Amino acid sequence: MPRSDVPWWREAVIYQVYPRSFADADGNGIGDLPGARSRLAYLRRLGVDAVWLSPFYPSPQADAGYDVSDYRDVDPLFGTLADFDGLVHDAHALEIKVIVDIVPNHTSSAHEWFQAALAAAPGSPERARYLFRDGRGAGGGEPPNDWRSNFGGPAWTHVVEAGGQPGQWYLHLFDASQPDLDWTNAAVVEEFEAILRFWLDRGVDGFRIDVAHGLAKDPEMPNLGGRFAARGPATSGHPHWDQDAVHDVYRGWRRVIDEYPGERAFVGEIWLHTTEQVARYLRPGELHTAFNFHFLLATWSADSLREAIDSSIAAMAGVGAPATWVLSNHDVVRHVSRYGDGDVALGRQRARAATLMMLALPGSAYIYQGEELGLPEVLDLPDELREDPAFRRTQGKDGRRDGCRVPLPWSGGAPPFGFGPGADTWLPQPPAWAALTAEAEEVDPSSTWSMYHAALAVRRAHPALGDGTLAWIEGTPAGVLAFRRDPGFACVLNTTANEIDVPADIEGHLLVASDPAGSATTVPANAAVWVTTPLLP
Ligand code: GLC
Repeated sequence: MPRSDVPWWREAVIYQVYPRSFADADGNGIGDLPGARSRLAYLRRLGVDAVWLSPFYPSPQADAGYDVSDYRDVDPLFGTLADFDGLVHDAHALEIKVIVDIVPNHTSSAHEWFQAALAAAPGSPERARYLFRDGRGAGGGEPPNDWRSNFGGPAWTHVVEAGGQPGQWYLHLFDASQPDLDWTNAAVVEEFEAILRFWLDRGVDGFRIDVAHGLAKDPEMPNLGGRFAARGPATSGHPHWDQDAVHDVYRGWRRVIDEYPGERAFVGEIWLHTTEQVARYLRPGELHTAFNFHFLLATWSADSLREAIDSSIAAMAGVGAPATWVLSNHDVVRHVSRYGDGDVALGRQRARAATLMMLALPGSAYIYQGEELGLPEVLDLPDELREDPAFRRTQGKDGRRDGCRVPLPWSGGAPPFGFGPGADTWLPQPPAWAALTAEAEEVDPSSTWSMYHAALAVRRAHPALGDGTLAWIEGTPAGVLAFRRDPGFACVLNTTANEIDVPADIEGHLLVASDPAGSATTVPANAAVWVTTPLLP
């Protein structure tokens, strides 16, 4: 539980549950809400403050549920609304908050609005909820502009009109099964405010906003014309990322959420070039927090990490928002593998060190399911089992996100490792994960799980941690970061390949080390330590 009097979301540790890969109750090899509910006690033991549930809504699952066909229900694959209510009830009884994902940039093409749009004529109110345009060229046979899908290929799909003749095109910044909504349409604005209320009334503590910087498009829809990278974080002036009009949407959403008691909050998924661009979404009256992808994208280097930390803290302070920290999620290569340069053991040492430092930084932090077990990315999934739509759209050049979505290993010595009562899992688990089950790691004091557990316990108890500020200890050797937090706390990260001494002016007791050889005086290679220091008079 948050221990200070600041709002919980300024310092919570939020655990991302990716429902299809977390825990399976019905034995079909796909995780579900009853499975997640049955593992809440595990999350309580681990010591997190909140869970964020990735989408569980009715969906054709073309993008693992980020293609929603009904925003007010639960897909039978994952259970029922009653299962959802039960999960929220039990989580709250364990003092765990619940955040749900909302996907406002696009619906599924199976959504009744899109089906109605296809059946209706060009210019109809049904079409006006999406971004239908006439094509260019003779007979409109070419797409309206040169925008590209984030998942590869053109961002436009040509439809066949009710009479059978080739017709208009519709915009999809992601898969063709994810048509973009037109956020200049009041019906869209009203519908999403009603959807927020639907889940707020069911007791959710907040929302993670999918592609939060994408909703507003330049009405002129100009060609990119080589001026902008077609994919990836946006630069400013981009015609479909970070348009000013998107801020009006969040001012409206903030008014809705503020009507509800209990400090409910938004976190935006906002991939932009600079922390200043992200901070504009967190101005008073807009969103509460945003993911810190600058930190996630930092490399294993003291300079890179320090730059990400300093720029984030400065930008967020400018708008009065807390910084947030994240190292892994369902879209990126797990940090064990990102930092390992092909060596999983080295990557795990570095990942543990980076995580320990992350949990000492001021603000709130995100943990992606399985990182507490030190899971690496699964790099050798057979292509035919991959479900990431970008894999198909790029002929395998991209779209390898399934590698971080492999079902969790809970117990036992062989797949399915207690994932569920069935024999199968929707993606195969590596047999080597026998050493990385929750059951094995919870009883091993040297495990990654035990480090997370210890760090989260100290974080809840130590008055210096959570929201607040940090002060760097300057003059540390190259490759070393050290900072203090008041009262009486210091963290040292050693990114070098050699053991180092803890800076001489940090004297105190070891609280947590990412490496069993760490102490209050020495930090092994690729490790971090937390030290509690005597209070200065
Ligand atoms: C976000 C999600 C990602 C999804 C995309 C389209 O980036 O995190 O998983 O594919 O949006 O909804």
